[in-house]
Amino acid sequence: MLAHLRNISKRALPRRLVTQSASYSSSSSFLIDQPEYSFLKELGLERDNPGVYSGQWQGRGPSVTSYDPGTGRPIAKVRQGNVQELEQTIGLAVEAYKQWRQVPAPVRGEIVRQIGDELRKYKEPLGKLVSLEVGKIYSEGQGEVQEFIDICDYAVGLSRIYSGQLINSERADHSILEAWRPLGVVGVISAYNFPNAVFGWNAAIALTTGNSVLWKGAPSTPLVSVATTKIVADVLRRNNLPPVVTLCQGGTDVGQTLVADKRVNLVSFTGSCQTGRDVGVEVQRRFGKVILELGGNNALIIDESANVKMALDAALFGCIGTSGQRCTTTRRIIVHEKLHDQFVKALVGKYQQLIPKIGHQLEAQTLVGPVHTQQNVENYKAAIAEAKSLGGAVAFGGNVIQRDGFYVEPTVITGLPHDASVVHRETFAPIVYILKAKNVDQAIEWNNEVEQGLSSAIFTENIGQAFKWIGAKGSDCGIVNINTTTNGAEIGGAFGGEKATGGGRESGSDAWKQYCKRATITVNHSGELACAQGVVFNVE
Ligand code: UN1
Repeated sequence: MLAHLRNISKRALPRRLVTQSASYSSSSSFLIDQPEYSFLKELGLERDNPGVYSGQWQGRGPSVTSYDPGTGRPIAKVRQGNVQELEQTIGLAVEAYKQWRQVPAPVRGEIVRQIGDELRKYKEPLGKLVSLEVGKIYSEGQGEVQEFIDICDYAVGLSRIYSGQLINSERADHSILEAWRPLGVVGVISAYNFPNAVFGWNAAIALTTGNSVLWKGAPSTPLVSVATTKIVADVLRRNNLPPVVTLCQGGTDVGQTLVADKRVNLVSFTGSCQTGRDVGVEVQRRFGKVILELGGNNALIIDESANVKMALDAALFGCIGTSGQRCTTTRRIIVHEKLHDQFVKALVGKYQQLIPKIGHQLEAQTLVGPVHTQQNVENYKAAIAEAKSLGGAVAFGGNVIQRDGFYVEPTVITGLPHDASVVHRETFAPIVYILKAKNVDQAIEWNNEVEQGLSSAIFTENIGQAFKWIGAKGSDCGIVNINTTTNGAEIGGAFGGEKATGGGRESGSDAWKQYCKRATITVNHSGELACAQGVVFNVE
């Protein structure tokens, strides 16, 4: 990283920003101090920010510097929390929950509505910060905040309609009710690639159902965590509410303590399969609840009847959007053998057109921004070397782009066996493996043979194939699309996947139930005691 800081060239800077380069003379200068980045101040950020919020801002743990992946330059700093601060924060979150659970659900919904309104006000600068800190392009940064706004709207409606049911009892004059109660403290551990929206899905639903929320964002996107929490905290303050949303940025020690603490009733974790497995086991050990949203190895299937033009557009956004760093990114394209060669040629043609659109994430014409860190670049290089060593052919890309920041060429690899080790591994970079299949049955088999089970899509005009795909013999993923992308799910549906993806569901549909405990309530209004199943048990 230091090498990057020492070696800042004008070429690496966004075009709009080059005029400011005179003031960039010192490698210790932070972007937040530059006039071009005044939007960071609009969000209440400073050069050095406390990273713990529990009603007050503090941070006594190690300080981290956040970098712009598009130039490698420092943006600002965040003082993380230590384990002791986390433990205090959990205590305050428990106290806040005790008050919050007494607030009627539609009133809680009103608070979430205000959070959504506040996000609308800050959408532009907050979305820009998401772009700057993650490396995703401007419209995707804005889209991410929009996802948080959308789930707030959803949660407001939910607050008035979520309910239990009345179940028929086998006993005369008995009724069985089902009620949904809050769990307590919901811990949210989010990843760098969606540092705003994933917190939003969890927080909006968890708050509406009466929980308090404790957030630990990714260590490499701490500014989004701080700026987002400031927006939420302001709404809480205006409504004289206790800190029902708290934040503790931190490293592995903070994460592990959060996961192990019995007072955190549900841990919603987004991240790698490997860490997710440890989180799942640890939370289960103490009988806590867990929502795991882990890796994907998402396939796009092109049937021989497919609308190829549409499929190509889907492949482009699916494989390259967010520079291949969504958990829903298209990692494998399984094409019918009759279309394979023509499809590869056409896709490579589209990739070629994207070359002038690789650039800094905040430049207006950019469609392909950097990857997040040098580690992503290393993983990209390793995957490409492995693919080549296994006999794969690089049909497009395959190289690291030599400029400051973390840029790689979007890459298409053909000719690998469907079960090659590299094809079965999720690499968070814009690499897609194209596989040639005999028919849809074989494509489904390959779709399902990987460990992960997040997202999948088929392009077909054949109704029989479409229904096979969504049926019991079809895709085994949580997201099973037809004629659209594997990525970019809307908030209205439940989001998550099967197998090594962890089985959790977040966001829409009935995912709210995961943030609640269910009470089954049998009410005897007969005036006499009667046992179920006809059991007789009494003495006169
Ligand atoms: C993620 O990558 O962790 O479906 C979340 C999508 C987005 C969410 C991705 N709505 O691609």
